[in-house]
Amino acid sequence: MYGGDLLVRGGRVVLPNGVFRADVLILDGRVALIGKDLREEGVEVIDAGGKLVFPGIVDEHVHMREPGLEHKDDFTHGTKAAAAGGVTTVLEMPNTLPPVDSRAVFEEKVRRLSSKAYVDFGLYGVIHNTNLDRFGELVNSGAVGFKVFLGPTTGNIPPPDDGSLYEALLKSARLGVALAFHAENWDLVKYFTGKVRSSGRKDPQAHTDSRPSICEVEAIQKLVLLSRETGGYVHIVHMSAKEGVELVRRARAEGINVTGETCPHYLLLSTEDYSRYGNLVKVNPPVRDRANQEELWRAVNDGTITALGSDHAPHSTEEKSGDVWSSAAGFTGVQTFLPLMLDAALRGLMPITKIPELMAENPARLFRIYPRKGTLVVGGDGDLVVVDPGAETVIRREDLYAKHPITPYIGWRLRGKVMFTVVRGMVVAEEGKVVNGPRGVFVRRGADLGQQP
Ligand code: NCD
Ligand code: ZN
Repeated sequence: MYGGDLLVRGGRVVLPNGVFRADVLILDGRVALIGKDLREEGVEVIDAGGKLVFPGIVDEHVHMREPGLEHKDDFTHGTKAAAAGGVTTVLEMPNTLPPVDSRAVFEEKVRRLSSKAYVDFGLYGVIHNTNLDRFGELVNSGAVGFKVFLGPTTGNIPPPDDGSLYEALLKSARLGVALAFHAENWDLVKYFTGKVRSSGRKDPQAHTDSRPSICEVEAIQKLVLLSRETGGYVHIVHMSAKEGVELVRRARAEGINVTGETCPHYLLLSTEDYSRYGNLVKVNPPVRDRANQEELWRAVNDGTITALGSDHAPHSTEEKSGDVWSSAAGFTGVQTFLPLMLDAALRGLMPITKIPELMAENPARLFRIYPRKGTLVVGGDGDLVVVDPGAETVIRREDLYAKHPITPYIGWRLRGKVMFTVVRGMVVAEEGKVVNGPRGVFVRRGADLGQQP
C-alpha cells in the first residue's frame, strides 16, 4: 500500500498559475483525477467548500536535530509539528551529529528517521573542508542536494577551500545537483564579532552588528562568480540583506544558475523587534532593518526569491536563554511556516499563488523531487493542505509540537487556518492536531531533472 484513498470536494485549488475550482481524487496515495464533480464509491470525503486547497508544502530548510542533538528537538516532534502546520515534505539539513558527510552516515540517518516520520522527508548531504570525494556517493544515496556552510553557525562545520568549492560546483553542474549555501564570509564574521564583543556590548542588536551585510554580500558575490564559471547550481538560503538580493537579481537576469531563499523571520521580523523579543530573535544570518525587509518583499514578488524555507532551527530552552553572545542562533519554525505566510498573503503582501510557487513547486523542482512532490498532478503523490481563508489562527505555546516550544510568534493572531494536512491520501493532521502516523517515507532525489525555477 502506497497511501490512502480520499476525495477532496468543492474547494478552490491554488497552483502557481492560478486558482481553480476543482475536486481532487486520490487513490492509493496518488492523485488519480482532478476535475469537476468527481464521484467515487467507498472513499473518505473532505468537503472543501469555501476552502483553499494547496499542494502539500515542501519545507526545503529544516534542522530536526536527529541524530545527536536530541536535547534541542527530534524527528518525532519536528515532523509532528510539520504535519500540524501543513508541511507534507521536509528537506532535512545535514548539521546533525555526526555531520552527514558520507554514504554510511547518510544511510544510517535514513534508517533512523524512517520509523519516526509523520511527513515525508528528503535529506541533504554536507560538503565541508575534507569530504569533496564523497560527493558522488552521497548523490547515489539519494541526497536531494548539499548544504555548504561558508560561515560559522550551529555545528561549526568548516567550509571547503576555494578549489574544492570550484570543483563541487563543477560536479553540481554535471550531475544537476543543487548546492544550498549558508552565505556568510567566515573571516569577516569573526572580525566583526571580535570588534563588537570587545566593545562590551550586550544588547540583542549587537548580534546583527557583529554580522553586517557585507559578510553576506561578499559570500554571495563570490558564489555568483563561481556559478558563472562552472554552471553549478547555487542556491543562497536564508537571504537577509538587500545588497545580496540585488546581486541575485542581476545574476538571474544574466542567466546565471543562481536561486534564492528567504524565511518568514526576515520578512516579518526586524531589528525593531529586539526590544520586544530580545535574544529569542537571534538567528544566522541576523534579522536586519526595515529597509532590508522591504527589499526582501520586493524580491519575493519579482521572482528574485525563488523559494521560502522555514529554517526551522530549534534549541533547548536553556540554550536560548543565554546573553547575546552565548545564546544559540535559530528557533523553531516548521509549524508556523505556512500559517505565517498564509496570513501575509491574505493581507496582500504577496499573491496567494506565491505559496504553491515558493513553498512547494520551486523547492521540489530544485531538489529533484518534482513532480512527485510540490504540485498536484495525476500520478503525483496525493499531498495537499486544506485551508480556511475565513478562519483565524492564534499561535499558542500549548499547540506547538516542538520539544521546546519557544518562538517569537507566540500570541500572534493570523488570518486563515490550516484545516487538513494530507500526505499520500492520508489525513495526518486536522485543525492543528496530529491524528495519524508516523507513516512518512524517505523521498530520494528523482531521475526527473525537471526544470530549474
Ligand atoms: C541553524 C541551526 O541552528 O542549525 N541556525 C541558524 O541560526 N540559522 C544553522 C544555520 O543554518 O545557520
Ligand atoms: Zn544556515
